Amino acid sequence: MNLVDRFDRKHDYLRISVTDRCNLLCHYCVPNGVHDCTSFQHLLTDDEIVNIVQAGAQLGIKKIRITGGEPLVRKGLPALIGRLKEIHGIEDIALTTNGIFLAKYAQALKNAGLNRINISLDTLNEEKYTKITRNGKLKDVLEGIQAAIDHQLHPIKLNVVLLKDYNVDEIETFLKWTMKENIQIRFIEYMPIGNQQSEWSKQYQSLSIVKNIAETIGIYTEHERKQLAGPARTFSFENAKGSFGLIHPISNEFCAGCNRLRLTADGHLKSCLFWEAEVPVKALAYDHHALIDAYKRALFLKPKSHEMGHTMYEQGTPTVRAMSAIGG
Ligand code: GTP
Ligand code: 5AD
Repeated sequence: MNLVDRFDRKHDYLRISVTDRCNLLCHYCVPNGVHDCTSFQHLLTDDEIVNIVQAGAQLGIKKIRITGGEPLVRKGLPALIGRLKEIHGIEDIALTTNGIFLAKYAQALKNAGLNRINISLDTLNEEKYTKITRNGKLKDVLEGIQAAIDHQLHPIKLNVVLLKDYNVDEIETFLKWTMKENIQIRFIEYMPIGNQQSEWSKQYQSLSIVKNIAETIGIYTEHERKQLAGPARTFSFENAKGSFGLIHPISNEFCAGCNRLRLTADGHLKSCLFWEAEVPVKALAYDHHALIDAYKRALFLKPKSHEMGHTMYEQGTPTVRAMSAIGG
């Protein structure tokens, strides 16, 4: 059985938000500074997540990414990852984290079978970091990155959301870092999700600037796209230990190749990051056939493309969930 949608896109990648809680309050992710969190009784339990993934795996899901909120604030996450890893058909389990608690959990995550890790880090300046996260300490993330390197959670990818007035001046430093360390730095275009249109238009920066700066640093070539790949196009400089990636949903939309579905922390299958269309699955979590049917309905609802950055919408209603609740 295959998860093929109305536009012939094959889905093998499920992003699971295991909590909508987060220990940080990044301005671009939580614009109003308040986490509107789901009460514990409405969150998916470990057993429910396992059942939902089992149904997905039967339909062709091969890759799982654990997201949040901040996934490491969920109690017992390594044990859940261990259970997901055992599901027949699941080939790759990755985690996206802000890295603050990573030094503490890297060993347990590795032991549980986590394959790889993506860490959000938008600046290498301590004061700027504390400001954008509304209280985070850069030192904690850097220790987390080191722990991920020490525990060989490769490839380690760092996510840098580009914001015009905030970190464009650090692109060169980030790019040069890829010369000497075996990491992948991915620059991401700021997306207008969850009622932040005016702030978004002030801070949006197209990624063409990254290529312009890269050209002043050295010769770089693009990598071939791998199976089970996410949204990034990746490149590396000659003789560099690491690489860099570009995720440009606005300036160069990649919906035609979308292979992703999402499961929200409160138990909804979400077929596109941007649109409201969702299928509730928490109540179906012990009914395998109903779950299979729910995946098919979610796929049927998937629009051809997002319309981020448009002023009028043609294919549906944009989501009201904050980015922090969707998990990116
Ligand atoms: P890899 O599997 O390592 O390639 O990870 P990933 O890039 O799929 O995951 P990550 O959680 O690191 O997300 C990086 C950025 O890509 C975030 O800003 C996400 O919001 C964005 N992203 C992921 N999937 C989609 C998508 O389907 N559409 C859009 N527009 N953005 C996405
Ligand atoms: N636009 C682009 N990326 C975002 N992220 C959070 N909010 C946004 C946004 N509005 C990123 C985080 C994290 C990833 C899951 O999504 O920085 O790295």
